[in-house]
Amino acid sequence: MKFTLSFTALTTVAAFAPSAFTPKNAGVPASTSSLNMALKDGQTPVVIGVAADSGCGKSTFMRRLTSIFGGDVVGPLGGGFGNGGWETNTLVSDLTTVICLDDYHSNDRNGRKVSGLTALNPLENNFDLMFEQIKALKDGKTISKPIYNHVNGTLDTPETIEPTPIIIFEGLHPMHDERVRDLLDFTLYLDISDEVKLNWKIQRDMEERGHSLESIMASIEARKPDFDAYIDPQKKDSDVIIEVLPTNLDKEDKKTLNVRCIQKDGVVDFSPCYLFDQGSTIEWTPAPTKLSAPAPGLKMAYRSEQYFGRDCQVVEMDGSFDNLQELVYVESALSNTKTKFYGELTQAMLALADAPGSNNGTGLMQTLAAFAIRDIYEKKTAAAKKVKQETTTSA
Ligand SMILES: *[C@@H]1O[C@H](CO)[C@@H](O)[C@H](O)[C@H]1NC(C)=O
Ligand SMILES: *[C@@H]1O[C@H](CO)[C@@H](O)[C@H](O)[C@H]1NC(C)=O
Repeated sequence: MKFTLSFTALTTVAAFAPSAFTPKNAGVPASTSSLNMALKDGQTPVVIGVAADSGCGKSTFMRRLTSIFGGDVVGPLGGGFGNGGWETNTLVSDLTTVICLDDYHSNDRNGRKVSGLTALNPLENNFDLMFEQIKALKDGKTISKPIYNHVNGTLDTPETIEPTPIIIFEGLHPMHDERVRDLLDFTLYLDISDEVKLNWKIQRDMEERGHSLESIMASIEARKPDFDAYIDPQKKDSDVIIEVLPTNLDKEDKKTLNVRCIQKDGVVDFSPCYLFDQGSTIEWTPAPTKLSAPAPGLKMAYRSEQYFGRDCQVVEMDGSFDNLQELVYVESALSNTKTKFYGELTQAMLALADAPGSNNGTGLMQTLAAFAIRDIYEKKTAAAKKVKQETTTSA
């Protein structure tokens, strides 16, 4: 038997999902004020930090997250241009607000020309304001946040951000400043290896934009010292690290990826997902009749490892697959995915089938991380409710 679930079967299963996470008014754009996204009395937002280099697939990851949290992606807060819209980096859906940390650049592009520093340098970022504003949102307060305009390189008129139950801070430095880091309930680092970054840049800048290999290498080299000094060190403080490496299956293959999801043990409200049997060391080549894969094939792995001296559980997918529906075969082998029903992981991937990474481990690991974040949110919310009930009954 072929291990597939048809899309209709998956949508029927979705009917059992709790209503908080099923999309409502799908496709109908709503103004932010009409949304039921306000914090309930006394609720504390769950705050997540996502670190990655610019242009490393964060926006796809954010789409996967907001899609799993349900509700509509109401889209950018400013609503684009026309209709009185403005340039913004903030994404809002029913439950989540995604804030881009570039908004905390202390200088505009011209200012950086004067200072001679890159945006990767902490001196070009206002961590005092970042800390104050994340703290204010956690306290349920509304903030007036600057906007960094990526098109013009300017700092634009600030926008008003209201706290929602989940707030995600994504950007270059979510874990750099200790005060900010302490406010984060869960942290994630997207770690794209140098080889993969170079391959992606060659694909985009050389093959599509006609840049020379020398200029691509030079731009990578120019960024590297600041990246190594200020961005990379944050991964040791992250709860989950998604590593994107070249495939191990064929040394000549420059396109296929090996993606590793490194999950720390002992993180509050988070328990790692695993393949088949927790604590084992496993290498698994899924049956090609159940999960067909283009050359050089597909291999999964699971093992315990040390990462900067911490115990971790690592789930790995090397290679890509042909048919997203067949991913349910891999889903059947994974445990502790924090899904609410069998098939939900595959369904979430199918819902964004056209997004980059949907045929390989980047999409899979991002989706697993998104389910983990949903689970953390639910645990923290349940715990807060319990405390509230206890204080009400004892009063
Ligand atoms: C960039 O600046 C120009 C000139 O001030 C303005 O017309 C345009 O709307 C700006 N673009 C964005 C995306 O804000
Ligand atoms: C794997 O995913 C990435 C995005 O994360 C995508 O750009 C790439 O095309 C995919 N690779 C292959 C070999 O399909």
